[in-house]
Amino acid sequence: MPFALRITSWQAAHGRHALPWQNTRDPYRIWLSEIMLQQTQVATVIPYYERFLARFPDVRALAAASQEEVMPFWAGLGYYARARNLHRCAQEIVAQWGGQFPPDAERIATLPGIGPSTAAAIAAFAYGERSPIMDGNVKRVFARHFGVEGDPTRREVEQRLWALARAQVEAAPALDMTAYTQGLMDLGATLCTRGKPDCGRCPVADTCTARAQGRQLELPTPKTRKAVPERETAMLVLLDAGRVLLAQRPSPGIWGGLWTLPECEADADPGAAAQALGLRVKSRTALAAFSHTFTHFKLHVRPWLIEVEGASLRESAQPQQWVAAADLADQALPAPVRKLLDGLVAAGLMEPDSAFVLR
Ligand code: ADE
Repeated sequence: MPFALRITSWQAAHGRHALPWQNTRDPYRIWLSEIMLQQTQVATVIPYYERFLARFPDVRALAAASQEEVMPFWAGLGYYARARNLHRCAQEIVAQWGGQFPPDAERIATLPGIGPSTAAAIAAFAYGERSPIMDGNVKRVFARHFGVEGDPTRREVEQRLWALARAQVEAAPALDMTAYTQGLMDLGATLCTRGKPDCGRCPVADTCTARAQGRQLELPTPKTRKAVPERETAMLVLLDAGRVLLAQRPSPGIWGGLWTLPECEADADPGAAAQALGLRVKSRTALAAFSHTFTHFKLHVRPWLIEVEGASLRESAQPQQWVAAADLADQALPAPVRKLLDGLVAAGLMEPDSAFVLR
């Protein structure tokens, strides 16, 4: 049986069928899910997806909103350029396509934030177009099955993979493109995983080159990694009577438009940094350090819990606000900042009368 038909039969029996973006042909819903899923796991995406659709049910609703209205619905998902492109893309669809998604993968791929594989997935799911995908997971499936050597992010390797992807669709004339596309994604996410492929359950194991040669963990060929730059910062949890000071990040920039904690140099005196904001410091405590990995660098964070007298806070170019623990849920916080503050709330350190805990 052709490769593609073995994938679709397996998808019908063993694939995922009840994800919130399945069982629709609405390109808006499909597009939104594909963008959210580009760098984020399914389980994380689901609640974001549902909240986003409840607030922006169609492309016109999204295009009519401002970026400031959109960002809180993305806050915590990371890779915020995705949200900015999503918003620009909605405006372009309304302005240039009359509010309708372009009719094929080639034209979908001209929109902001949509690469060729995402465009192909949208066209396959929404229109049944015979456009093959080639995302990171599918590259792994193809590199293993067809024994493609070389780093799949390299252009010539990628082109070989795309040619193989087209050939599989051509070899299966009556292919259900929804089941096939979802099947490749499901196979890559659940069986043909990077570290622990489950070949015993794989529908294409008997024709898999990597399996025949026992080279599943050598393919795809790993990228030669450049060391990522590392940076350090101190984050100041400035508390006044149970309320924490948040500052809005300038946009564009890292976490642009989101609300974060004031920062200072990692080795600076955090008490002096609080005083520089006009605050009177009553006590301070070092909290457990943590790291966060961005696309281009790794950030090491030293957080400080600093109890202050907030009345004398200086005006700043960046908007600032004091937020009570109970109101943090409504704020657009980056995931690591939310995690830090949630930890303090859970430990009772953001109770209005917790000051004595610190002393
Ligand atoms: N990752 C990217 N697209 C996906 C989809 N449609 N279902 C599950 N995971 C995905």
